[in-house]
Amino acid sequence: MGEIAREWWERHGRAVQGKLQHPIDILYGDVSEDQVQLIGLVDGKRVLEIGCGGAQCSIAFARRGAIVTGVDFAKSEIDFAQELAKEHGVQVELLQQDMSDLTPIASESQDIVFSSNAFIYVEDLTACFSEVYRVLKRDGVFVFGGTHPFLEILDWNTMTLNRSYFDTGLHVEGVETDSPFSQVDRTISDYFNVLVDSGFTVDRMLELCPDDKHGPTEWSPPADLLARVPSSIIFKARKPLNTA
Ligand SMILES: C[S@@+](CC[C@H](N)C(=O)[O-])C[C@H]1O[C@@H](n2cnc3c(N)ncnc32)[C@H](O)[C@@H]1O
Repeated sequence: MGEIAREWWERHGRAVQGKLQHPIDILYGDVSEDQVQLIGLVDGKRVLEIGCGGAQCSIAFARRGAIVTGVDFAKSEIDFAQELAKEHGVQVELLQQDMSDLTPIASESQDIVFSSNAFIYVEDLTACFSEVYRVLKRDGVFVFGGTHPFLEILDWNTMTLNRSYFDTGLHVEGVETDSPFSQVDRTISDYFNVLVDSGFTVDRMLELCPDDKHGPTEWSPPADLLARVPSSIIFKARKPLNTA
């Protein structure tokens, strides 16, 4: 498990929630599901959100009639999510659990697995995607997205590169502090290939910015950067109907 990442989120999750004021909406980074329409109707469907944070997306799924479970490895995030779900009067099952080990979720039980802005903190993507594959029903969809990897290598003010796109792997900042921050940088093909190696077929991959109707959000990059670089990347993958 990514212990540095878990400790960071445990400690700072609530402050991040206070700062971002994430809306109750299904968002892939700063692009909304209503903009891209990848999922369709969810009424009565079982949705699992992994790395749910404050569960704003889970709550939005529940409002649309889905039966939702949210998973996050930080207890502080789960506590926040529980309060928020109660405030919005919706039922969401919330579990403190690492998304690379979905043991409490039964095999082939979910219609949709969703995740936003979370895989960058996950060290073992292969374990995670294979767990997602296990819990999905046949023909179930796995949709996820977040900040486009290009934005991670760009200095948003000067628009110069702050590292090579190929400098991937675990990056830890603030090792000299009592609260280091870690993330795992990956290329687009890293995500694509782990999906394929886990048995998924990929229906769609989108690289885009929020449209005028749905965005941008407060955490989108400046407009001149948005005009030239995609802010979010989204994958829609599927567990094949016929599996061994
Ligand atoms: C940037 S927040 C995104 C939260 C939410 N998905 C959203 O879009 O608002 C990342 C979340 O992923 C969670 N997370 C990171 N790695 C995780 C892991 N291995 N297992 C479960 N949760 C994880 C963090 O605790 C944090 O709540």
